[in-house]
Amino acid sequence: MENIVLIGFMGSGKTSVGRELALLGKRFLLDTDCLIEQNMGKSIAEIFDSVGESGFRRIESQLIFWLSHNVRNAVIATGGGMSIYNDVSSLGKIFWLNVSFEQIIERLDSTEIAKRPLFKDIDQARKLYNERKKIYESKAKYVVEEGHLSASHIARTIFTYIEQDKQQIF
Ligand code: S3P
Repeated sequence: MENIVLIGFMGSGKTSVGRELALLGKRFLLDTDCLIEQNMGKSIAEIFDSVGESGFRRIESQLIFWLSHNVRNAVIATGGGMSIYNDVSSLGKIFWLNVSFEQIIERLDSTEIAKRPLFKDIDQARKLYNERKKIYESKAKYVVEEGHLSASHIARTIFTYIEQDKQQIF
């Protein structure tokens, strides 16, 4: 069974939606940031400090290679830049969680912002958001408009898409 892959900007809810989706689909959630942190024994912020963003992107591309060869039937929540700098199409069926920048600001408190080196400067983050939007859209098979819907509601929407896809195949 193909993996379900969630892409989108920092704070777009990939992990929370992924958790609900895993429950619904009796799959397990793999969060790429968590996997990298576990493997390196460091937080994302510490990895950026020691090897820089380019080093972090290299680790992400190694993880994509490993996941695409070893993991099936999972929900994969990707870090916000993973699908921008790497080709994630080998990972599975890609869903972009499209959420406005204003909503992201509302969601992320100072603790969540501190975990994300590329979110320290809000104007820079907004610029990055605007630059990336089109790229996320071009990489996704499905675009999921979040509005103000809950994570479980969004997960149900994605689950329905997947069930419909299955019916088309058989
Ligand atoms: C990043 C997003 C983060 C994390 C890293 C870089 C990005 O993940 O991978 O800080 O480039 O957008 P989240 O999307 O889970 O915040």
